[in-house]
Amino acid sequence: MSSLAEISSDFLKSAQQQIQQDLKVALDSFSMPESLHQAVYHAVMLGGKRIRPALAYAVGGLKENVAGWAAIRRAAVAVELIHCYSLVHDDLPCMDNDSLRRGQPTCHVKFGEDTALLAGDILQSMAYEVITSRLFDESVQSIDSTIILKQVQILATASSKMVGGQTLDLQSEGIAIDQNTLEAIHHNKTGALILAAITMSAVTTFDTASNEMQKLKEFGRAIGLAFQVQDDILDIIAETEVLGKTAGKDLQVEKSTYPALMGLEQAQHYASRLHQEALDALAYFGNDADELHQITQFLLKRKS
Ligand code: IPE
Ligand code: IPE
Ligand code: MG
Ligand code: MG
Ligand code: MG
Repeated sequence: MSSLAEISSDFLKSAQQQIQQDLKVALDSFSMPESLHQAVYHAVMLGGKRIRPALAYAVGGLKENVAGWAAIRRAAVAVELIHCYSLVHDDLPCMDNDSLRRGQPTCHVKFGEDTALLAGDILQSMAYEVITSRLFDESVQSIDSTIILKQVQILATASSKMVGGQTLDLQSEGIAIDQNTLEAIHHNKTGALILAAITMSAVTTFDTASNEMQKLKEFGRAIGLAFQVQDDILDIIAETEVLGKTAGKDLQVEKSTYPALMGLEQAQHYASRLHQEALDALAYFGNDADELHQITQFLLKRKS
């Protein structure tokens, strides 16, 4: 896939192929000790739904922007690298202590805690190297560097929020918290990076104060929160084999989750409501938002 126009039919599948290819190019452009490379490759290349890159591409498809396409591809890689780093660290024994991720042994189980910690560390730096590089810059038109700066700011802010959210998530195990606090945790630990995938792509095309940006932010906030509510639900109703991570883990460690707070059925209603909010925000774009619709439908029905 070499242009936005080609990402159309079976959009998610082609987005997954595109990001797989771009992640490989990005990883191969770094030199590091072989053991670390193996751990990084394991954390990044093996599976994953690639929802964040798909969102970045779909936003890129809203309006033709040839000069912005390479920057969108770099942003998609960068946000996925940050996401993979967050998963490696999230699974560590000092955090969620999980042994299965994307149907594989977690990074620390396979490579040791020291290497997994360092794999997460380097993934974070790699994300910013990619975003500020000229990777995928095939076009003669190059994007304004102020847009790259905005992308860096968006990603850095979202990553910090993710870390803050993870801190509160761990502190909230085994205690009762109210819905506002839980919502803030979920927006931060998960929603922020999902929103960043959308806005890092959007800044290549739309002004900060535009209606389009406003609507995309509304969409991103709703879909980002819905994503973690759904993750909490799947932890209860999905099978480990399908989920690719150990089901029932949240209950075991008394995580503060939406089903724990309001019950499974109410949490499911809440997730549907958030998906509807996301769709309402997309209405502004009419048929142009078909790919974002496809992602939203996929997320609503996802089983893993
Ligand atoms: C899992 O994210 C962790 C959360 C932020 C809820 P994903 O469900 O996107 O994980 P992959 O990338 O598909 O494995
Ligand atoms: C993870 O939330 C959020 C981040 C990794 C930032 P969870 O701990 O619920 O994610 P899973 O269920 O392990 O994928
Ligand atoms: Mg966690
Ligand atoms: Mg976890
Ligand atoms: Mg979870």
